Amino acid sequence: MMLQDKVAVVTGAGGGIGREIACAMAAAGARVVVNDVGASLSGAGAGSAAPGAQTVALIEAAGGAAALSTDSVASWESAQRIVACALDHFGRIDIVVNNAGILRDQIFHKMAPEDWLSVVDVHLNGSFFVARAAAPYFRAQQSGAYVHMTSTSGLIGNFGQANYAAAKLGIAGLSKSIALDMHRFGVRSNCIAPFAWSRMTEAIPAETPEQQARVENLRRMTPEKNAPLAVFLTSDRARDVTGQIFGSRGNELFLFSQPRPVRSVHRDGGWTPEAIADQALPALSAQFVPHDRSEDVFSWDPL
Ligand code: NAI
Repeated sequence: MMLQDKVAVVTGAGGGIGREIACAMAAAGARVVVNDVGASLSGAGAGSAAPGAQTVALIEAAGGAAALSTDSVASWESAQRIVACALDHFGRIDIVVNNAGILRDQIFHKMAPEDWLSVVDVHLNGSFFVARAAAPYFRAQQSGAYVHMTSTSGLIGNFGQANYAAAKLGIAGLSKSIALDMHRFGVRSNCIAPFAWSRMTEAIPAETPEQQARVENLRRMTPEKNAPLAVFLTSDRARDVTGQIFGSRGNELFLFSQPRPVRSVHRDGGWTPEAIADQALPALSAQFVPHDRSEDVFSWDPL
């Protein structure tokens, strides 16, 4: 029981990866706040308490303890209520899993401001709001663990996801900042870049044979494969693990690199634009990042 006596908040736990993490945390002994607004994939329209209530029912049927929260992560006030739900029901909070998400894919030159803002609001601002709401409790008790869902769409790249990629790479920066700032209070923060067949990946086009083969592979990546890593990272067994970006895909686990200078050039007297073209570019271009996408990097069958 790696999470015995701990209280976890899992956002977006009404389905997909979040539900599996919430159930796995409850099975590992945690009492869990199942947070979900029951939104559509785009976040548009009225929400529903039903998806979150189903996760609560699953946890309780397995003998676990769970409470339902239907507040949105995407505002300061509602995020405070999500954390308050943990305090009200279970008297404490030890774990925050920032998992809630929506998608509004659009090629960049057609991306509307509301598509940008709504995706950034749920993923990046929502992760900040919920993490920040828990921070005073973590500080006071000198312990706490955050896990935030990032994505290879942000870490590597993808078509038509400027809003999502920017938010997800922002989350990596947020997590590292929390890890640095809250280390002195015994608080840890890590990211997971998950892979799973869920309603989010159902939206991936499958028109060409190559796309169909890719989607066939994705279909076999069930969401629960991501849960053990989240349980481990929020347990005391991970006490020395912070500021890292992990990935999970089927039966594979990854540790991601984080940006560091890969090459430097120096010129006595400084640089002119012409000297950069003539001397710096030939030296640096050997290390340029390829013009690739997540699926180019993760090009092998995971199973
Ligand atoms: P999902 O769409 O099945 O689950 C997301 C959940 O978040 C939904 O139940 C939705 O109602 C909830 N939600 C949306 N807006 C909310 C809000 N404002 N407040 C509270 N809850 C809200 O998606 P999936 O695939 O399970 O994704 C979970 C996380 O993993 C997301 O952050 C996603 O970006 C990330 N991810 C998923 C990948 C995949 O392969 N499925 C790949 C990379 C990242």
